[in-house]
Amino acid sequence: FTVPALQNEPVLDYAPQSSERFKLKEAIKEAKAHVVDIPMFIGKEEIRTGKKMEIRPPHEHGHILGYYHEGDESHVTAAIDAALAAKQAWGDTTWETRAAIFLKAAELFAGPYRYKINAATMLGQSKNAYQAEIDAACEMIDFLRYNVAFMSEIYKQQPVSGKGVWNRTDYRPLEGFVYALTPFNFTAISGNLPASAAMMGNVIVWKPSENQVYAAAVIMEVFQKAGLPDGVINLINVDGPKAGEIIFSHREFAGLHFTGSTAVFQTIWKNIGNNINKYKSYPRIVGETGGKDFVVAHPSANPEVVSTALLRGAFEYQGQKCSAASRAYIHKSIWPAVKEKLLADLATVKVGTVEDFSNFVNAVISEKAFDRIATYIDNAKSSPEAEIIAGGTYDKSKGYFIDPTVIEVSDPHYVTMEEEIFGPVLSVYVYDDFEQILDVIDNTSIYALTGAVISQEREGVELALKKLRNAAGNFYINDKPTGAVVGQQPFGGARGSGTNDKSGSMLNLLRWVSPRTIKETF
Ligand code: NAD
Ligand code: ALA
Repeated sequence: FTVPALQNEPVLDYAPQSSERFKLKEAIKEAKAHVVDIPMFIGKEEIRTGKKMEIRPPHEHGHILGYYHEGDESHVTAAIDAALAAKQAWGDTTWETRAAIFLKAAELFAGPYRYKINAATMLGQSKNAYQAEIDAACEMIDFLRYNVAFMSEIYKQQPVSGKGVWNRTDYRPLEGFVYALTPFNFTAISGNLPASAAMMGNVIVWKPSENQVYAAAVIMEVFQKAGLPDGVINLINVDGPKAGEIIFSHREFAGLHFTGSTAVFQTIWKNIGNNINKYKSYPRIVGETGGKDFVVAHPSANPEVVSTALLRGAFEYQGQKCSAASRAYIHKSIWPAVKEKLLADLATVKVGTVEDFSNFVNAVISEKAFDRIATYIDNAKSSPEAEIIAGGTYDKSKGYFIDPTVIEVSDPHYVTMEEEIFGPVLSVYVYDDFEQILDVIDNTSIYALTGAVISQEREGVELALKKLRNAAGNFYINDKPTGAVVGQQPFGGARGSGTNDKSGSMLNLLRWVSPRTIKETF
């Protein structure tokens, strides 16, 4: 068997007057007209506990989109039991059957569910239409289709055999269950973490972010519609640490597929370490975590290219991408031109709700995030090492809006150059010496996720490639550091940014199998 030929899902642009824009607006209207009531999905049951938690759009917190039912420890145990009950049958299915289910899910996202998943992402996570489309529709579809292709390649990898001997590799699923723990900021990541491990024959307990339960419920609906058997993926909405206590002390815990903050990942890793004697096997730990992603502009850089990379890299989805450009190093000879263009472009950027499609920047995810980001801005206002040259203003009266903010710093180690802020805040340091600044970049933050060099001279590119070899898992030349495309730029970073198992690649899928080598002699 071969799987269908691959191409990335084309991105719809939702142009004014287009039928796509009309359909998306209808889906948004429909979502706002109904109060959703989101259960947990455990085995074949939809569980409504009665402990109802409100879901409100971050850009319009006066509106209630619906509720989700929060569970407790008993639901975590029930989800593990349901997963283990489904394990044998799912592990025995052929890879072609599993492939067909996830390919069907991709078709549902590409067709009948495209507007529903985009509307859920726009309203629940405050993503504008374009940002939702590249995430919840296209990246989700690409993850599913490409992973099916990678899976089919993995099963073909077999050892050599000799006369009278047949050697083979049996790509077994992990023994036990996999825990998928997902972040708020990408709907596609949320779908991919349970799906990629399940595709390889594993059974899953999935806990989405409390800030993304709306889109997660739509993903679950699609997986079920595509024919995923009950119990293969079980969705729980339980407080993270509470769920962790049960999951990470369970004998059958076989793997963690995590995306989220570095601090949470480190806490979990320690927890797993403390429980290591309890498990049947050493668990697989895959975590994609935080970033403090850089753009460095060589003296030869085109100021317009630099400005565009900063504007899009730093402020798309309000800077809430692990890959967002959040520290820039610009040579003093080009800074006046870059600054002029960046500030002029920022003056045209509109901030507001996702329902007005002309808004480029929408709300940050929650009041907690808003307050944290505002504190960085306020501290910068009173620091002698920082000058706010754009934005610096915010308002949470109707939604959690923060204007795109640029801070020019005189110390390359000022706190906003080092810590992940996860909001629309870009810090800029103007430097003198290119080679020296590369050392500063390499030694400034604990992270190593994405980074970009902008240079018209090859020498600048080569030096950055060499000196920043370990500073980014995804390195861009003359581009912004965001927007990796599945199948084109496998994604992930090392150091404090994760285990670098490259989501959207064969490397990631290989973490979800435990190969058995078989030698048969005749
Ligand atoms: P988060 O770490 O707050 O939450 C991630 C998940 O862990 C959520 O489901 C949450 O409920 C759960 N959780 C939180 N605290 C927990 C605890 N103590 N024990 C167990 N579970 C817990 O992350 P977030 O705010 O949802 O997402 C943003 C973070 O994710 C940023 O740091 C960003 O850089 C990172 N991220 C990384 C990548 C990547 O590919 N490297 C991609 C997207 C997001
Ligand atoms: N894959 C996402 C990006 O590259 C995080 O921006």
